[in-house]
Amino acid sequence: VTSKCMIVVSNRLPFVLKRNEKTGALERKASAGGLVTAVAPVVVQGNGLWVGWPGIHLENPDEPIPESNPNDNTPTAGLLSKKVVPVCVEPGKFDSYYNGSCNGTFWPLFHSMPDRAVFLAEHWKNYYSVNELFAEKTIKALKSLLEEQSTATPLIWIHDYHLMLAANWVRQIAEESNLRLKLGFFLHIPFPPWNIFRLCPWSDEILQGILGNDMVGFHIEDYCLNFIDCCQRRLGCRVDRKGLLVEHGGRTVLVRPLPIGIPYDRFVKMAEIAPKVLPTNQKFVLGVDRLDYTKGLVHRLKAFELLLEKYPEHIEKVTLLQISVPSRTDVKEYQDLKEEMDQMVGRINGRFTTYNWSPIRYIYGQVGQDELAAFYRDAAVALVTPLRDGMNLVAKEFVACQINEPPGVLIVSPFAGAGEMMHEALICNPYEVHMAAEIIHRALTMPEDERTLRMNYLRRREKLHDVNYWMKSFFKAMGSLREDGDDGL
Ligand code: UDP
Ligand code: G6P
Repeated sequence: VTSKCMIVVSNRLPFVLKRNEKTGALERKASAGGLVTAVAPVVVQGNGLWVGWPGIHLENPDEPIPESNPNDNTPTAGLLSKKVVPVCVEPGKFDSYYNGSCNGTFWPLFHSMPDRAVFLAEHWKNYYSVNELFAEKTIKALKSLLEEQSTATPLIWIHDYHLMLAANWVRQIAEESNLRLKLGFFLHIPFPPWNIFRLCPWSDEILQGILGNDMVGFHIEDYCLNFIDCCQRRLGCRVDRKGLLVEHGGRTVLVRPLPIGIPYDRFVKMAEIAPKVLPTNQKFVLGVDRLDYTKGLVHRLKAFELLLEKYPEHIEKVTLLQISVPSRTDVKEYQDLKEEMDQMVGRINGRFTTYNWSPIRYIYGQVGQDELAAFYRDAAVALVTPLRDGMNLVAKEFVACQINEPPGVLIVSPFAGAGEMMHEALICNPYEVHMAAEIIHRALTMPEDERTLRMNYLRRREKLHDVNYWMKSFFKAMGSLREDGDDGL
């Protein structure tokens, strides 16, 4: 049996490296974010490599990557250092590519928030050359992998908005070196509609870059159709909207909705063993997000304030536990949001706090998933209310961990990919803060049998459509599943 050989390429490796201040040795720390949570198990279990940025500038790019700590129980614990290919970029260039182009331009634009997007030719230039560097590293990694093992056509799986240009260089170098391979791309964020996408001065190059792949995956059909529309209108490609195909450069590119899932069973297990940490004398409404303006956090706090104002019976009985993970802290928009949140939390707590209760517990920091599992399990309500979100894994992790009888209630925004599918949740438009307060009240007072019914459906769907299912769907879409259905992973 020839083993499947796959190279995952993403901006971020599933861990960041930190230098121990005392010993100077490198240490791993798990990264947060949907991409890492979903993709890590694929590489850990499979037979492949992960090409990405190690989260630190290594003066010596050949410095060995440490193995994971023996106590590490994150999804990436089993990722051996020999499977990791760090991409080292000079700090100034990296800043322009990552903070400037990826998170200053593409993140807001693709989340349909063009007013927050900054378009600078200098950033774009660095985006271009960092993508080229990732492509070179990928080919180098592929060649070394092929020296070690014979394999069927290798798969290169490129991820997300950081690397939209990489595929064409990989393809070109591979052709020059007579290497056969298949290229797949998955976008973890929304693909915006044409009237937003066209604002980008480099829209042409981006589409051509993505079309360098053989298969392009998005979370939901809406994003697929937006992409196809843009290809037709910007590049004049022939497209098939029913079959989800785009013709470009003499090739046909497959476009597929592949909604991402979570490692469901792993979350259930974590919920089963996590010790109780939340006080039992009150109900918790839970929010878990990177501190990002797309997550609707300011609206959420406002809605919670309105809840306490309109329904004072919740005072001293209900607490909002908001976990906000520091994210992209060098970007001004994120710094401003941090300020705004700190002020709002202070103001609302100042307004409602009594001698034995405060309405909001605000954690500004990253929490391990084993600890998150206890919060997910014991929360009465989860608030997943982004203004825009590609999918949102927190919504899925919450339902997986809801093993208590009777269960709690999920509130989800229709503007998250998750909101498209999790029909049995309470759907809440986060912009409408008065209505959002009503929905939180409804969730807190929902009868037990209704909660059970809704949660059972939600859990069943996520169990079935977990991350393994997503992975298999990806391989199937790449036309690489073996006849016998065993994908070799
Ligand atoms: N996460 C984590 N620690 C935290 C907060 C979040 O490990 O303190 C993880 C969470 O379990 C989830 C991911 O980060 O898997 C967030 O993914 P999501 O799709 O919800 O949002 P993204 O950050 O990708 O926008
Ligand atoms: C989202 C993106 C990922 C990214 C993650 C965390 O999930 O789709 O590509 O890794 O956010 O953001 P960061 O900038 O810290 O990598």
